[in-house]
Amino acid sequence: APLQPWNTFGIAARAQTLVRVRSVSDLKAVLADMELAPAAKFVLGGGSNIILTGDVKSIVLKMEIKGLRLVEETPKAWIVEAGAGEVWHDAVAWTLAHGFPGLENLALIPGTVGASPVQNIGAYGVELQDRFESLDALDLATGQSFSLDAAQCGFGYRDSVFKHAPSEAPDGSGMPRGMGLAGRAVITHVRFRLPKPWKPVLGYLDLERRRAEAGVEHPSAQQIFDWICDIRRAKLPDPAVVGNAGSFFKNPTVSPDQCADIIAREPKIVHYPMPDGSIKLAAGWLIDACGWKGKSIGKAGVYEKQALVLVNRGHGADSVTGGEVMTLAKAIQTSVYERFGIRLEPEPVVV
Ligand code: EPU
Repeated sequence: APLQPWNTFGIAARAQTLVRVRSVSDLKAVLADMELAPAAKFVLGGGSNIILTGDVKSIVLKMEIKGLRLVEETPKAWIVEAGAGEVWHDAVAWTLAHGFPGLENLALIPGTVGASPVQNIGAYGVELQDRFESLDALDLATGQSFSLDAAQCGFGYRDSVFKHAPSEAPDGSGMPRGMGLAGRAVITHVRFRLPKPWKPVLGYLDLERRRAEAGVEHPSAQQIFDWICDIRRAKLPDPAVVGNAGSFFKNPTVSPDQCADIIAREPKIVHYPMPDGSIKLAAGWLIDACGWKGKSIGKAGVYEKQALVLVNRGHGADSVTGGEVMTLAKAIQTSVYERFGIRLEPEPVVV
């Protein structure tokens, strides 16, 4: 089966077998199937955070479990449950339309609900972990369903147990080794905790600028949702038009000493102090400073409005290959390392 329509980078790889999963029983049927059961599995959501470097030998489970509902309302929160196959942005819009605000800062992030905990999606001052209640998953090895709360997911910056092999634990999660669930678990449902009373999360520079322009003192959740959509549309490429996987590198953190060292050489560097005392640097700025914005290697390019986003400059049969993307990524890593002494780490999952 072709995978090009199912990854937002638009890379033309293929899967030997692709199974569309519309329910938990579909998933159990795969595990009960004599031929499919023993084979390795690859879980595909919206395909917005993967780089395919070749054909996928594993059985691709394309998650299409739907459903959105309020499962509980307490004086302190609304608890909303969504099927893993719901489109993330549509789920955010649904919560707002039904009067359950809290996810508006995460509007327009590409991908599915089931993928959101894997990399602990985040934008404009909110991370999934701030709105997360629990999730249901299926263990591919045993066929058993299980639930995890936030602590059990080991969330970190663009990180969780789902990004780590069974032999390792997420960095800084404090979890014992052997807790990684990559390739072992399939997320089927996610529950969000949306706190009452709703409070806006402003403060992010782009958002504050919008609010000042609009002259609005107390914006509604819908207003914030609209602003975020505008901001993202202005500086991030629409995957339907230009293939991409969002930010290609994580924003690196350094110690205050390292940061002072770099500032002495590079006074303009964009840096943010973190609550834990470390300093986060803007990877987009580092890449931009190395002159990469708008450049290409083969059909892999650096987006002209946001240097942190790598894009597909080909189309259809003439699309970029995963190899070309990784060549460009390595060239960028090398220049950033040579100039700043900082190693950039890719953010999407390289398959
Ligand atoms: N910058 C440049 N040149 C560039 C790009 C950025 O100088 O080409 C500077 C900007 O001027 C700004 C700073 O770098 O001062 C940070 O840029 P921006 O506000 O666009 O955010 P980001 O750090 O590049 C992160 C997330 C995004 C998220 C935004 C908003 C990561 C890896 N990326 O980007 O998430 O939408 O903040 O919260 O943390 C994603 O993960 O795929 C993603 C898009």
